[in-house]
Amino acid sequence: MVKLTIDGRECRAEEEKTILEVASENGIHIPTLCYHEEVSPYGACRLCMVEVTRKGRKRLVASCLYPVAEGLVVRTETPEVNNIRRTVIELLLARCPDSEVVQEMAHDLGVDKPIFSLEEDNHKCILCALCTRVCQEVVGVSAITLVNRGVDRQMATPFYDFSEVCIGCGSCSFVCPTRAISFEDVGDTRVITMPHVTMEFKLKKCSKCGKYWAPERQLEYIAKTAGIAPEAFDICPDCRD
Ligand code: SF4
Ligand code: FES
Repeated sequence: MVKLTIDGRECRAEEEKTILEVASENGIHIPTLCYHEEVSPYGACRLCMVEVTRKGRKRLVASCLYPVAEGLVVRTETPEVNNIRRTVIELLLARCPDSEVVQEMAHDLGVDKPIFSLEEDNHKCILCALCTRVCQEVVGVSAITLVNRGVDRQMATPFYDFSEVCIGCGSCSFVCPTRAISFEDVGDTRVITMPHVTMEFKLKKCSKCGKYWAPERQLEYIAKTAGIAPEAFDICPDCRD
């Protein structure tokens, strides 16, 4: 265990934890857009910047990546920290002016309109990579990834086309902070809409109640990886027992 101070409050924490985790455990709010406790931190959004002082040296760091240490002094609301957060959210608002979550966060940080607008079509993806990390680390299929560099960076499926390994689970949509990915079940089909591709998945019909309840590809994947007989999914969860 180490002792550190966050906003003047003395905190105890396990060494491998990050400042963001310890702040959250102690009820101290730090804004984030690219953090999710189920996946490894990525440091994409930079909204979680805080000031740390260690051995007399002051620095601004991303709290989702920075590990706690004995004697660390953390300040989450300095003028410099707030300036960085405002600049970050101004850029995100310019990129994604239609994203409600970005608009709300911008408003909270005192930014009400974008400093400039992009000529290309508006979209909602902030390139946080939460969808790709969940797909890879939690689901285990890596159906999507971030491609290209700099201003051409995009979240995409291979060749911007139907991803052959995607199982249609929709985890990417659940985790996306800006709702840049959506999915809906229409009749016997799940439709997942991403910024550059729309994919359709056939849903499995319950042999008892007739309801379409999960993508066939997802059920085949679960059966294969968990060693479950495919027939176990002939009946939907509501009709079991
Ligand atoms: S689609 Fe959503 S989760 Fe994926 S990178 Fe873009 S904003 Fe992040
Ligand atoms: S939450 Fe730390 S960089 Fe996004």
